[in-house]
Amino acid sequence: MAPGKKYKILFVTSELFPFVKTGGLADVSSSLPQELTELGHEVRIVVPRYGAIDTRKYKIHDVVRLKDFKISLGARSVNFSVKSSFLPVTKNRVQVYFLDNEEYFGNRKSLYVDVQKSYWYMDNHERFTLFSRGVLELVKKLGWAPDIIHANDWQTALVPALIKTVYKEDEFFSRVKSVLTVHNFLYGGEFITYAFEITGMPDEYRSEKYTIHNGKMNFLKAGVIFADHVTTVSPGYRDEVLADPSLTGGLDGALRAKGDAFTGVINGIDRSVWNPATDKLIVKNYDIRSLDSKYANKKNLIERFGLTYDNSIPVFSVISRLYNYKGIDLFAKALPDLLKLNIQIVLLGTGDTEYHALFEETARKHSAKFACYLGFNDELAHLIEAGSDFYLMPSKTEPCGLNQMYSLLYGTVPIVRKTGGLKDTVIGIDKSNPNPTGLVFEEYTPAALVGQVKIAIEIFNRKDAMTALIKNGMRSDFSWQLSAKKYADLYRRVSAG
Ligand code: GLC
Repeated sequence: MAPGKKYKILFVTSELFPFVKTGGLADVSSSLPQELTELGHEVRIVVPRYGAIDTRKYKIHDVVRLKDFKISLGARSVNFSVKSSFLPVTKNRVQVYFLDNEEYFGNRKSLYVDVQKSYWYMDNHERFTLFSRGVLELVKKLGWAPDIIHANDWQTALVPALIKTVYKEDEFFSRVKSVLTVHNFLYGGEFITYAFEITGMPDEYRSEKYTIHNGKMNFLKAGVIFADHVTTVSPGYRDEVLADPSLTGGLDGALRAKGDAFTGVINGIDRSVWNPATDKLIVKNYDIRSLDSKYANKKNLIERFGLTYDNSIPVFSVISRLYNYKGIDLFAKALPDLLKLNIQIVLLGTGDTEYHALFEETARKHSAKFACYLGFNDELAHLIEAGSDFYLMPSKTEPCGLNQMYSLLYGTVPIVRKTGGLKDTVIGIDKSNPNPTGLVFEEYTPAALVGQVKIAIEIFNRKDAMTALIKNGMRSDFSWQLSAKKYADLYRRVSAG
């Protein structure tokens, strides 16, 4: 156990692996608390109990004294209760609380978007106001005052704001500090100003100075203004959002005003989940000394996608939310040229319906070269990481990105654009880097991406060069230990401040 003061930390998140996941936030929410626990801190996690969470499988149970909470959202009085369980994937037991309300969470299989309408739920402001206020009521009821409440993204960004406004006079919260981590500034949690009213914050905070941004209620801005410290998920992305207002919808001013209280901490990887030597979701385990076993995974992957296996053909993969900021527009535009090359491409993801249509059609027309799975599938994601030769991640912006790190550790060479966390984690091939781990390009054009794929094919055909690149990548160290220590230092600083 590391020396120094041990903190009580409440980690508040809208998704949590393995219970419920749509993106990297779920992975971080599971691994960071485990590492902090390892360092000796007492961490508890709170997440909504969505209908998609399997309560039986995860032994999520009622707690008698955590029933019958009541809060008002504007004129409405809303009841909720809190259920309890533990992270199942941990060496250290991490307590998880599930905020339970049938109407706002239990009835919803999907987290933020109404799948039938392909649009955000119209009551997301109510849902996440309830969650944020509920979290504070929960710790009060438990009589457990954390040293730090660590909120994540817009869904929980109201928590720091509520502590400093609605709960300002509440003795219970007088020593509680807040940290807000923003995993992606593209999602601000913007709503009509009526959303302000149900937060319960006094009217004086209903202004551009605090919670309103360009005439709209903005949850993220409220969090940025009121949190004692704001972080984002890589140093590179931190610098970019300060320099380019378009990445935050104009929150750069508020972020700049934080000064030293806005920092970038890179995410780590949970090696108990992402490790080709032990991964139970892949066909054959391997490590840096048994790379040949990787090809059993390649064969299985290719056949599962209905393509024909030929080890002399390089396989390129994409696992992504299918949105433009992930560079999917670039990929889509490059696709006709990519399909002229002697490669195979597999894609896993969901997102914009126009891309669903495009990729389905491409798979029909080019059935020997391109295949896709348009959905969310964690098991397949592991097999893709193990079975591909190259991984494409041409993001326009990327706060951190986890898949490029999973790729490196699985001996799958990433091809990434030089942005945010990608730039911080993949070492490109140029003379100044003795040990490159991937291909890094800057220009955001389809031609640049096609150019990288051609270079990749050349490397693939030179076995020594390919093996060296793979091995460099597999030697990368993305352990959470380092990052968790940075968060622990941060809590120390914030608590002292
Ligand atoms: C978001 C970001 C991604 C990051 C992840 C975890 O999904 O878009 O870049 O890796 O959060 O922090």
